[in-house]
Amino acid sequence: MKSIVVVSSLTGNTLKVGDIVAYALEENMTTVKVEEMPDVSDYDLVVVGCWVDRATADARAQEFIKTIKNKKVAFFVTLGAEADSEHAQVCLKNIGALFDESNELVGQFICQGAVSLRMMEVMAKRFPAGHSHAMTDERKKRMEASHSHPDMADLQAARAYFADLKQRLEG
Ligand SMILES: Cc1cc2nc3c(=O)[nH]c(=O)nc-3n(C[C@H](O)[C@H](O)[C@H](O)COP(=O)(O)O)c2cc1C
Repeated sequence: MKSIVVVSSLTGNTLKVGDIVAYALEENMTTVKVEEMPDVSDYDLVVVGCWVDRATADARAQEFIKTIKNKKVAFFVTLGAEADSEHAQVCLKNIGALFDESNELVGQFICQGAVSLRMMEVMAKRFPAGHSHAMTDERKKRMEASHSHPDMADLQAARAYFADLKQRLEG
């Protein structure tokens, strides 16, 4: 099975996950940047890594996803919220729906990724108290809790998930 792992990452979280995903699928494989918009016609499995931007895939990933047709596809995602939150489920659903119906969606994986300090500063400045996105103490705490992710457990879970997917597809 010939696979490609295409990653969109702004601050590095998704790239970290992508590195272990590529390894799980093929020992010598490395990731391809989404900016390259690779031609995937020669691949059996196209894996897309993206980060969550307003509850769906970031714009660059969306643009690439649109080009994929008639493939087995899988995706992995990092987001600022907890991976077991309702928000994470909504994001998975939204991102899954971006793929053309001619594809077969064979796998999806999500884990938390640090919300950058820069993003936190921007939010704190942009949204006044009372705004639904305002930087409350609780929101600040939650975002600070994201800063250790993706951690070793996240990376191990990603490796296990994609090693299992490979076995399922080749088995
Ligand atoms: C503009 C912007 C919008 C974001 N929107 C969300 C969101 O809707 N939900 C969420 O859980 N995290 C959100 N995040 C957090 C990122 O998805 C998260 O930090 C991700 O791991 C970043 O991945 P990267 O390091 O590969 O760029 C947002 C981050 C940015 C910069």
